Amino acid sequence: MIVRNQWYVAAYGREITHDLFSRTICGESILFWRTEAGAVTAMADRCVHRRFPLSQAPTRLVGDQVVCGYHGFTYGADGACVAVPGQTRVPRTARLRSYPVVEQDSFVWVFIGDPDLAGGVRIPRAPWLDSPGWTAVSGMEPLAARAGLLVDNLLDLSHETYLHGGYIGTPEVAGTPITTEVDDEAGIVYVSRHMDDAECPPFYSRSTGLSGRISRWQDIEYTPPCLYLLHSRIAPVGSQPNPDGTDPDAFHVEVVYAITPETETSTHDFWAVARDFALDDEEVSAFLAEQNRTVVLQDVEALDVLEQVIASEPAGYQELSINIDTGGLAARRMLARLASSTAVRV
Ligand code: FES
Ligand SMILES: [Fe+2]
Repeated sequence: MIVRNQWYVAAYGREITHDLFSRTICGESILFWRTEAGAVTAMADRCVHRRFPLSQAPTRLVGDQVVCGYHGFTYGADGACVAVPGQTRVPRTARLRSYPVVEQDSFVWVFIGDPDLAGGVRIPRAPWLDSPGWTAVSGMEPLAARAGLLVDNLLDLSHETYLHGGYIGTPEVAGTPITTEVDDEAGIVYVSRHMDDAECPPFYSRSTGLSGRISRWQDIEYTPPCLYLLHSRIAPVGSQPNPDGTDPDAFHVEVVYAITPETETSTHDFWAVARDFALDDEEVSAFLAEQNRTVVLQDVEALDVLEQVIASEPAGYQELSINIDTGGLAARRMLARLASSTAVRV
């Protein structure tokens, strides 16, 4: 189930240069490139003439025009065909489908669905990825599983204790109950778990320098379909934020995932980790990047297996859900509602 008429993260801004770049988003093969002035363009990666993929050599960019490598149809940055071989008249319908694009918070967002609806759909923010006072590391791993499995996974972090033991999991994660809230109007699911006296996993002890037991808060904010935020607060046991919101004894980590369907059964798993401490410490950056990538790959391995299980099971299999699943179930309901309605208007 892919929700259309929504914004999805297609790439990091750094991936798109003045060069042809293709990625399949929600089953649509899209060609991205940056104009000479620096704007990102997105258009169908299929020539209107005989379907040649425009990301395929010998197609090339000449200035701000794409010249198809098969017979030379030439397209401008808006997707309109400006020249065809052997005749001066360019057919009026010779135009590549173009997609609304917004570059924000280090991501390139693309609107999948009716482009006329794009302006009315909110793009959620992840400002820590591109703000002074924060240092971020990020990456993307391909997932051979449907996006819904990644949503389930991220909304229920009790799996950290088992799947990510020795990295980010400790016994307290699975052992501490969650609270779940749903804001239907804003289209956000919140899941919180506050551990007041917990073991400090290596992910946080090596990056913050904290040793001994910690207060560890996990506050999830998921805006279906694409953007997932985990506001993570790590502090010495007993430390609380001040009434004015300042929190000088704590370390803050913003873990961001963008969950973008590639097809019905595969997903682009964008991940980023931003921190408000050790800002210039490259060792901490390298450590967090390596650790988080390892953790993501542990999830990828598990979810790829689940996709195979789903593909081979008889119809009508019933899952069993418990308290830890309330966030995931709320997210599924919101996704189903988005899929059955048109876009959420703002
Ligand atoms: S397929 Fe592109 S010009 Fe013919
Ligand atoms: Fe995980």
